[in-house]
Amino acid sequence: MSGWRPDSWREHPIQQQPRYRDPEAVRRALARVAALPPLVAHGEVDTLRAHLARAAQGEAFVLHGGDCAERFLDCARGPIESKLKILLQMSLVLTWGARLPIIRVARMAGQYAKPRSSDTEVIDGVELPSYRGDHVNDSAPTPEAREPDPERLVSAYFHSAATLNYARALLDGGFADLHKPHHWQLAFVRKASSRAEYEAVVARLLDAVEFVESTGVETHAFDTVELFSSHEGLLLPWEQAHTARVGAGWYNLGAHMLWIGDRTRAIDGAHVEYFRGIENPIGVKIGPSTEAAELVRLLAVLEPADRPGRITLITRLGAGRVGALLPPLIEAVRASGRTVVWSCDPMHGNSIKTAGGVKTREVARILDELRETFDVHDRLGSVLGGVHFELTGEDVTECTGGPQELSEADLQHAYETLCDPRLNYAQSLEMAFLLAQRLARRRG
Ligand code: PEP
Ligand code: CO
Repeated sequence: MSGWRPDSWREHPIQQQPRYRDPEAVRRALARVAALPPLVAHGEVDTLRAHLARAAQGEAFVLHGGDCAERFLDCARGPIESKLKILLQMSLVLTWGARLPIIRVARMAGQYAKPRSSDTEVIDGVELPSYRGDHVNDSAPTPEAREPDPERLVSAYFHSAATLNYARALLDGGFADLHKPHHWQLAFVRKASSRAEYEAVVARLLDAVEFVESTGVETHAFDTVELFSSHEGLLLPWEQAHTARVGAGWYNLGAHMLWIGDRTRAIDGAHVEYFRGIENPIGVKIGPSTEAAELVRLLAVLEPADRPGRITLITRLGAGRVGALLPPLIEAVRASGRTVVWSCDPMHGNSIKTAGGVKTREVARILDELRETFDVHDRLGSVLGGVHFELTGEDVTECTGGPQELSEADLQHAYETLCDPRLNYAQSLEMAFLLAQRLARRRG
């Protein structure tokens, strides 16, 4: 990797970094993080890359999801269990529809740092530094809380480790309550015909599992599922602290997968420089300003060897714009001869503000972007290999519509996110059923 070092990004222009008052305290905190054990093993990272290589060929499908911004206080039993449960239930429904292995990647155990469109925000007439995620500062609207705190770098490590530890324990211990129909909370589905259909799918699915288990064949279909961790690789000093040499390569051992945000994907920027040197599979968010030629150049910089599974392109173009913006990107990548996993994030191109100033997303628009994205890939003979959602297993009210038909007035009941609005349990599960139907159709 010519000219690359874990710190060569420091020679490039960088966006979206906090400004700490005490650089020496930052250095000390990062030295502590670097001395602590890795959060993931490099073999797991290689496994994920091999799985993603299959998704690029249409032989597997990626379900990537979790909070927009994890909070340190979500590092607790209930939120971890419910997030794992919704991801597992969704993946089971998707397996049913697609008849493909589902690769589960959680936005979890490290999704603590957020890019912001502005360095400051005005709250009740007072201008304050923006909240940049628990990794950096506190969300409370006071100047003291918003001051970037180097100790949070160490704290983020321990919160990531504790989250990952409990998620691994649940999976190893057979988080098997998915076997029981009553764990599938389908009562939320208002339309009786949809509910009957979903109940029938769940019943068939559980019947199939029971049949296989009754044959005595050990399938471990439920109890040894793999789950991979991921976050946006935003704070490069932190990512550098997790970077370790293994054999001939360098791995980021802070998460299995990292992605570059839409705001930090400049070709000559620090983020692209850092990402090009690590072995991990990486995602790149592709927003509406992405040009086809620029994307091809970016791929050549990030992955000159074109190893399958290394790059996932996560398009987030916005409903109504996919038909015009996506085809040139797909055609250009195809003409370059490169292999990528195409994934769709139908959340970030569809954020709106209500008249009352609340940030939300309409489930109908999210579904529109998914449908448009499937249509374009199908029409061009390309493969949509995965989806990327902001979701939670809890009954929050952050996105409108969906099976509970949440209105703007309902948003105030349980609006918890500190960043973008997430799909709640009911909206996520419904999304999985609709996706499964589409994947079943694709199978023909
Ligand atoms: C995100 O995934 O939370 C995010 C900020 O996305 P994007 O970079 O696509 O705007
Ligand atoms: Co977000």
